[in-house]
This record gives sequence, C-alpha cells and structure tokens, in this order.
Amino acid sequence: MQIKPDQNHKRRLLSGMRPTGRMHLGNYVGALENWIELQDRFESYHFVADWHTLTTDHEHTRDIPQNTLDMVTDWLAAGLDPVKSPIFIQSQVKQHAELHLILSMLITTARLERNPTLKEQVRDLELESRLSYGHLGYPVLQTADILMYKGEAVPVGEDQLPHIEMAREIARRFNYLYSPDHPVFPEPDGLLSKFPRLPGLDGKRMSKSLGNTILLSDPPEAIQKKTRQAVTDPLKVRRNDPGRPDICLVFTYHNRFNSDAVTEIRSGCESGALGCVECKQRCAARIIEHLAPLRERRQHYEAHPGEVEDIIADGTARARLTAEQTMNDVHEAMGFG
Ligand code: TRP
Repeated sequence: MQIKPDQNHKRRLLSGMRPTGRMHLGNYVGALENWIELQDRFESYHFVADWHTLTTDHEHTRDIPQNTLDMVTDWLAAGLDPVKSPIFIQSQVKQHAELHLILSMLITTARLERNPTLKEQVRDLELESRLSYGHLGYPVLQTADILMYKGEAVPVGEDQLPHIEMAREIARRFNYLYSPDHPVFPEPDGLLSKFPRLPGLDGKRMSKSLGNTILLSDPPEAIQKKTRQAVTDPLKVRRNDPGRPDICLVFTYHNRFNSDAVTEIRSGCESGALGCVECKQRCAARIIEHLAPLRERRQHYEAHPGEVEDIIADGTARARLTAEQTMNDVHEAMGFG
C-alpha cells in the first residue's frame, strides 16, 4: 500500500490484539515493533480485542482482565506512546457492539463461511459441527472495530487480510445503502509488516501454547537458557561439523537481532569454525541487549501498576468520544434521528 504524504491530515490507523497476556518475541517482531514505527506517521488507536477472545474461548473468561493488563504493560514497555495514540479496551466502548449488530445485516452467512482464516480455525480446533454464531461473525466485529474509528490503515499479519477484505466490502455496502453522496466510512487497507513471522524455539509457529516462546519479560538468564535449547541444523552435531544456516532457527534470530554479524556467522557455521554453543550464546546476548530498554520501561510500570490502568482509562475515554461521533454519523445516515 502507498502511504500518501499529506500535510494536514494524518491517516487513521487502527490496530488490535486479543488479550493473550505477556507478549513474546513473535508478537514483537511481527506486530508490536511495526505499530511503534507507524505511530508517528499515523493517527493511531490501539486496543485490546477482548470480545474477540470469546469467539474461541467463551468458557474461560476469568483470566481476561489480568491478561489485558499484562499485554498492555508489554505494549508500553515496547514503546507505544499512549499520549500520541490512545490505548483502550474494546468491551469498554459499547458502541462496538451496536455497530457490530448493524453491520451484521450487510454481509451474508455464505460470505462469512467462505472466510479462509475461519476455515483453517475450524479445521485446527475441530469445530465442524459446533461453530458458534458469534465466531462466524468474527470479521464483522473486527469490521466494527475498524470502521468505528474510520480506520484507513490496519497493520495485520497475512492471516488477517481476508478480514480486511470483508471490512472493505461492508464499508462499501454501508456507504452505498445509506450514504451514497457522503460516504461515512473509508475502505481500510491492510499494512503488512516488513518482517516475516519469527518462528518459535522449536521451529514451529511461536505460541505460548506450544511452549516455544521467548517472552519480552523474560529475565536475561531465562533468555540464555531458552536459546541454548533452541533447535539447530540436526546434521551439525559437533563443533567442527559444517552447518546449514539457511535451515537453522538460531540463524533466523541472528538475522533479526544481530544483522551486522550475519555474514561472519554464516561462514563460521558453514566452515564448522563456529560451534552451536557459542553461536547461541552470541544470539542470546543480542536478544538480551535488544530487550534492555523494554526491561527498564517495564520495571517502571511494574513499580507503578496504577499507571497502566490510568493510561487505559484515558485511552478509553478518548476512544469513546470518537465512537460517539461515528455512531451519530451512522444514525443520521440511516435515518435514525
Ligand atoms: N483479529 C485480530 C487478530 O487476531 C485482532 C483484531 C480484532 C483486530 N479487531 C481488530 C486487528 C481490528 C486489527 C483491527 O490478530
């Protein structure tokens, strides 16, 4: 997508995550870092999509508040600026529910059933005969989140692009039906991150349920220990064995966190001069160094827990103001006085 230079108007950016608690390096490289980089170029809103958690996990709701706090603390530690960009919680801005209801009339169930992201989830979670009505509507709720702030840009992972496409279709449909002369909603663009997703320590998708993560809040010793256990080229058993960096997970991490040294590490690995133990130690050291400023900021928030709650309260109040304005536009367009 092209980012238009515009003197007076910064484009609106909207991004959210489901509250999964403490963030891992995969969340950071794939998403958070990107948000932080974009927050100067866009008028950004960041939010916790707690209602979306119910779509796959409605039986376990007790942990959501703590997971929300842990996640937002990591967002702040990573460098999101809550003054520039409000941070808020979806379920505290009730307008999302109303807009969701209205928009749910503007898309067919057949269209929602064709959603490839949903199909994958149904397969992975074996939901064939027990898919809920709410889960089917996941992209409609996401559309409400985006359109509520008239979001023009939405940073997402590849798997979310089908949802952005549905948001565009729904926005178009609303404008066509209710406001053909002055479109109420922009059609949002998805912004893909420059970096591919960082795999977990076992080479699979990084995920807390697979136990293969490095957390942003892990202390240095834990990062060293976890990195020591990461999988490498199975054919490189001893130090002098030649290795294949292109299939080595640790090399992927070097690429991301130790870019100045990758040429030297590649040749050391391939020749056998560099052993995996040393390679991993160097990798862990760079990750620890990269996360040092985050650790420092987190210590501040951990010492002042009320601050995170104040930041969320402030962000929620600001989000509500925008949501109210949008809902006024919606009501007016639809003729609900
Ligand atoms: N579906 C997103 C995810 O799983 C989370 C999300 C909900 C979202 N609403 C959103 C992301 C609106 C961007 C914009 O990652």
